Amino acid sequence: MPAFDLAIRGGTVVTAADTVRADVGIRDGRIVAVAERVEGASREIDASGLLVLPGGIDSHVHIAQDSGPGITMADDFASATRAAAAGGNTCVMPFAMQKKGESLRGAVEAYRRLAEGQCLIDVGFHLIISDPTPEVLGQELPALLKDGFTSFKVFMTYDDLVLSDRQLLDVFDVARQEGALVMVHAEGYDAIRYMTERLERAGRTAPIGHALSRPEVVEREAAHRAISHAELVDVPIMIVHVSGREAMEQVRWAQARGLKVYAETCPQYITLTAEDLDRVDMEGAKYVCSPPPRDQESQRAIWEGIEQGVFQLFSSDHCPFRYDDPKGKLNPRGRSSFRWVPNGIPGIETRLPILFSEGVSAGRISLNRFVELTSTNHAKFYGLYPRKGSIAPGFDADITIWDPARRETIRQDALHHGSDYTPWEGFEVTGWPVTTVAGGRVVFDRGRFVDEAPAGRVLQRDLSPYAVPRGRAPAPSA
Ligand code: URP
Ligand code: ZN
Ligand code: ZN
Repeated sequence: MPAFDLAIRGGTVVTAADTVRADVGIRDGRIVAVAERVEGASREIDASGLLVLPGGIDSHVHIAQDSGPGITMADDFASATRAAAAGGNTCVMPFAMQKKGESLRGAVEAYRRLAEGQCLIDVGFHLIISDPTPEVLGQELPALLKDGFTSFKVFMTYDDLVLSDRQLLDVFDVARQEGALVMVHAEGYDAIRYMTERLERAGRTAPIGHALSRPEVVEREAAHRAISHAELVDVPIMIVHVSGREAMEQVRWAQARGLKVYAETCPQYITLTAEDLDRVDMEGAKYVCSPPPRDQESQRAIWEGIEQGVFQLFSSDHCPFRYDDPKGKLNPRGRSSFRWVPNGIPGIETRLPILFSEGVSAGRISLNRFVELTSTNHAKFYGLYPRKGSIAPGFDADITIWDPARRETIRQDALHHGSDYTPWEGFEVTGWPVTTVAGGRVVFDRGRFVDEAPAGRVLQRDLSPYAVPRGRAPAPSA
């Protein structure tokens, strides 16, 4: 009997730490050998001239999420995980969103039912807490954390999701006690409401109004408030989708104070600007996401934060809507005001090529930093390490074979997500995923799905080592 089910031979294996010429041997869905030469496999892939990377892990995606009356998200779990795999990913982390008045456990079970038996690659749910009742904080959340849902997101804006300062503090307190990692959407609700109403009164209702209604100061203020609350409670937090200098500097300031404040950024903040929201004839709606893309100086600031280690994660914040669709960006109310244009853009399939091209190919970051930002740190921060996020014996056989020299132009026609557009139409990249191996199965190869079985699992995750408090206990409670 052959020693391996699959051998990937002749490539350059890149992890967050090392770049080595090595073969990889896979058995029963796991990596079992990384060696100069691996012999005796049932199947071989020749990776000569290519990079062999840990599969991408995208720890911030929205899939089949309830998006309010009349609006439908463009991806279900089947289409999102297929698009992810085509883009070189082997694991994604969507959200199980609690609606106000509903149980958190009920939300998890509902999203789990949507996902199970549908996913091409593994998924691990974060929670979204929108209604932190005593029952949720006292019983449901601690029980769900023990069941492997070890991180959750809270929102400082959006009518249906916003938490008050007191609610944030109470939720942070439970996270500290239970060891959960808190993800924070940092934009100030009242400031956005104030700006939105002013803009609408002035007739500034086109999509660019979305960017004008939430300028950087709105994100900076909320980031600072979240950081202050986290310091008071002594709980680590991850500020997600940081868009520019102002919020990045808040995070850097917090880190310099020794606080456990971590940060994520996304492709839109290194490639798009608010000018994209100002495109004619509602085209700008294609770029409406929160926080909005800023300007070129903000993009430079994000690179500064990536290079200086302020950011640990580079995620897509994939939140797909169709454009030309009454249930999507062009819903009838959206034409009356930007406030009704659903927030979010598709990006699950294009995250890796964009960072590779703009980061590695452009000489801004090393290959190892690319792997860290797109895979290893996602596993480490969200309790999947050392199961996922590297190439070494014992890890899941989640691998992307990558052509660093291949030049491509991103085109909607060639993508697999459920949206009818990509914000990066015509964007040129150098570096492209060739083959995706998920749990030892070759699922995508040279532009084609080759194993379409929905064998992706809903993962239980460990507590994050990054969620351990600093040990500066807040005022005692009974
Ligand atoms: O516009 C965005 N980012 N929509 C997704 C929801 C969120 O806040 O991450
Ligand atoms: Zn958010
Ligand atoms: Zn998001």
